[in-house]
Amino acid sequence: MGNTASATLTNDLKSAVDLATEKCSARLVEIRRDLHRHPELAFEEQRTAGVVAAELTRLGIEHRTGIGRTGVVGVVRGTRPGPVLAIRADMDALPIQEETGLPFASEFPGKMHACGHDLHTATLLGVGTVLQGLREHLAGEVRLIFQPAEEVVGGAKAMIADGAMEGVSMALSLHNRPEIPVGRFGIVHGPATSASDSFEIVVHGKSGHGARPYAAVDPIVAAAQLIGQLQTIVSRDVRALDACVVTVGSIHAGEAHNVIPDRCVMKGTVRTRQPEAREAAEQGIRRICEGIAAGLRVRCDVTYRHGTPALINDETVLQRTVAAIQAQIGDVADEYEPSLGGEDFAYMAQMVPAFRLLVGSSQPGRTDKVHNSNYQPDEGCIAFGVRALARTSLDLLR
Ligand code: NI
Repeated sequence: MGNTASATLTNDLKSAVDLATEKCSARLVEIRRDLHRHPELAFEEQRTAGVVAAELTRLGIEHRTGIGRTGVVGVVRGTRPGPVLAIRADMDALPIQEETGLPFASEFPGKMHACGHDLHTATLLGVGTVLQGLREHLAGEVRLIFQPAEEVVGGAKAMIADGAMEGVSMALSLHNRPEIPVGRFGIVHGPATSASDSFEIVVHGKSGHGARPYAAVDPIVAAAQLIGQLQTIVSRDVRALDACVVTVGSIHAGEAHNVIPDRCVMKGTVRTRQPEAREAAEQGIRRICEGIAAGLRVRCDVTYRHGTPALINDETVLQRTVAAIQAQIGDVADEYEPSLGGEDFAYMAQMVPAFRLLVGSSQPGRTDKVHNSNYQPDEGCIAFGVRALARTSLDLLR
């Protein structure tokens, strides 16, 4: 194909995506507001899944429900054969009482779409709408993965277990980001979110009278030293260039002021971005506990649970997404800082090259944060997300 013909096709594609997005964007806002009014918590997304399935039916997109309990998987088939690209959106809400006072505020007490997963669901429906109309430009298939239970981490695993990722060769996802203005996007190279592990340490001593500590083994004094020493993992075990957080978030021991209890229970979280740091943190916790046990005559039982791994953005998929956004919308993607939060799309990203796009969602003049009872994103981010991800799909499956 000559340069002129190729340029014409590219321009046609740009207009086609813009036009199709424009046509469906009012409906997507309507769907988003409906979902916002009816937020459902992790693995309870029955109504949400119903809304998604009904919309896919209306669009003529074949789909299956009940994948990963309450998830939905739709398929947009190109007219030519090719690889399978998965695009994942999460659907669950948070146990937060909404305080926005918006006309479409949550009608379910104590539940709110405070992380914008309603935006994600609407955006992915929009991507499906646009691509379904442009199937003749797709070589391969786009699998639309509507995932439950991201907030409690478990939805991605459940969907993978039910085969949602079978045959997939690359994956995309999105998250709204109110720190980025609507109309712009954020990209993070490499580790984008953190591995989120938890630990429990039970310090066993020997109870006794508070006046005679020499006749007891005090787990509280041991636990107090342990907390301080655990912080040296960040400064002395993990490579200084790597990020690591060790937080003891819960500690319980004793009842009476004059009794040494027999045990102290501590719980905490570890956040890391590199596998080496994750390994160093776990080893550090175990080693320090052994040292404290030997030094202070206690016994420490350590339970270390591996949670979500770090989400590693694939550089090739990232670059191709940025190029697609550039072609479709313009120079609107900026580098963004990685997060110490967790994201279970990481499990899908462990299977295939994957990239999670951050979609700017702040209204001018507002300083919103997600997971906040007053979160009011700019709904314009839906159409921007649709254009970016639809165009990326078309370019990846050209
Ligand atoms: Ni979220």
